[in-house]
Amino acid sequence: MIAIISVVLGIKKHSMRIRPLYIFILFLLFVSCKSSQRSAEGIVSINPYSYTGEKRTVSENGAVVSAHTLASEVGVSILKKGGNAFDAAIATQFALAVVYPGAGNLGGGGFLVGRNAEGKLISIDYREKAPGLAHRDMYIDKDGKADTDKSQNGHLSSGVPGTVAGLFETMQYAKLPLKDLISPAIELAEKGFAISKNEAASLNGLQFALKKQNTVMPVFVKNIPWKAGDTLVQKDLANTLKRILEKGAAGFYEGETARLIVEEMKRGHGIISLDDLKNYKAKQRAPHIFNYKGYTIIGMSMPSSGGVLLHQMMKMVEDRNIASMGFHSTAAVQLMTEAERRAYADRAEYMGDADFYKVPVDMLTNDVYLQQRMKNYDPAKATPSSEVGPGVLVAAESEETTHLSVIDKDGNAVAVTTTLNNGYGSRTVVGGAGFFMNDEMDDFSIKPGVPNLYGAVGGEANAIQPGKRMLSSMTPTIVLKDNKPFLVVGTPGGTTIPTQVFQTLVNIIDFNLSTTDAVYKPKFHHQWLPDLFYFEKGFPESAVTALQKMGYTTRLRGAIGRTEVIKVLPDGKFEAVADNRGEDAAAGW
Ligand code: DON
Repeated sequence: MIAIISVVLGIKKHSMRIRPLYIFILFLLFVSCKSSQRSAEGIVSINPYSYTGEKRTVSENGAVVSAHTLASEVGVSILKKGGNAFDAAIATQFALAVVYPGAGNLGGGGFLVGRNAEGKLISIDYREKAPGLAHRDMYIDKDGKADTDKSQNGHLSSGVPGTVAGLFETMQYAKLPLKDLISPAIELAEKGFAISKNEAASLNGLQFALKKQNTVMPVFVKNIPWKAGDTLVQKDLANTLKRILEKGAAGFYEGETARLIVEEMKRGHGIISLDDLKNYKAKQRAPHIFNYKGYTIIGMSMPSSGGVLLHQMMKMVEDRNIASMGFHSTAAVQLMTEAERRAYADRAEYMGDADFYKVPVDMLTNDVYLQQRMKNYDPAKATPSSEVGPGVLVAAESEETTHLSVIDKDGNAVAVTTTLNNGYGSRTVVGGAGFFMNDEMDDFSIKPGVPNLYGAVGGEANAIQPGKRMLSSMTPTIVLKDNKPFLVVGTPGGTTIPTQVFQTLVNIIDFNLSTTDAVYKPKFHHQWLPDLFYFEKGFPESAVTALQKMGYTTRLRGAIGRTEVIKVLPDGKFEAVADNRGEDAAAGW
């Protein structure tokens, strides 16, 4: 390149006299090349047909880290425009609904944990809920068997979507008008964007399911295979977004979009009604807050089990000097595994939508109770799950998802995890409206003891009831140090979510790992049932062998989670790290 420019400009290679001019011209050319990558007239600040993302950024004014480069860039462009972290989180989610159809969504739900510049701690629940016609045994066939195909695929697997209501509930903490926040997504849907090799492969792998689960063939169905660099244009989705821009949440929950959803349901024996949509409300809830070694951990409360599980696991290891055991040492891994096992046994028995079922949160997170839970912990051997079971409460108490972390220079911090449940949810796209519906109904316990998509079991606490929200594992989390944002963390991964957040926090707080190591190093997972210790490729073999000798049944599995972390460095800069397990990207300014 330099050689070509030199020839074109007639510059001799070693001419000292003109070297400053040469460097200056090169600089100008570099800058103009960079800006010519930007879209010519568009609002999207990066060329959506040719882009690469960063895995780690360090910046002064703000940062966004999400599952997709274009979405992270949209978020940062909103920060640059004067928006705060809440504005950026909203815009990033709208963008993800377009560029990351496997999990970014309008037809799903999620949770937001936030802290605004004034120090207010916020959580917003926009989890899907069971339709009015749902009932406890809706997935049990005539022989009494649970039909997980129905709870995981197609029209009947969908809960009433919550995402759009959640974004409007978030608007009260934002500064910019909706038009600014949604326009990049509209542009990306209307003009399209280039898909990556992995996205092409993912869509190709989906063709059979798409044809099976759809009554009107969506744009994702293609007769010749998708390939890297193909442009994905989503006109129907652009029109849905435009209706939301014009009419607010009613542009989704009422009128044309609601009609399209209900017509889609009727074509595929789904049960979501116009009333279900009209009555959906996102809820602001008190976040679940606890202290760990002087840090304030702010997590999501029910109907996500995330905050309580994190609390239980962290407290079960807090007084055991885990740092001295060493990162990835057999002793530390075993201790954390036993904490995970015990917390998940409680999840199965006691956790569900607290609006419908009295979840004994105070008891489950009581220090004495948690010490009691670890009483039969033996550092020399596995405690079989059959000997653990849910804890005995001493008194009655009065895998596809996506996470984004955002921070700004004014002290606003936002962690959002949002999902369709399975990758591409129910695989049903609303005909004429262009978005995937979730298959979140499978997160209910469809029959006591029958494992869901992630192997989690449950019972009464998480049984299906009309209007009830299904129990989640999503764990968007903010950590404060001296009352100021320190970490903004979260991940997808079904039931592995709380254990990944747990490990990421312990990696940073106790093992003092760099943020990239805390995210990239192999993780492990135990969820009580099945009684298996899962680990990722690259996990120390010595620890696996030692655990096997102690009685653990171990299983190598695929990538666990896609953790996105923002850490505030001692000099006040923001370090954003995107997981290298996927095409996730950090962006800062
Ligand atoms: O809410 C939950 O716990 C699940 N529906 C999350 C699904 C998920 O993370 C899938 N991602 N890989």
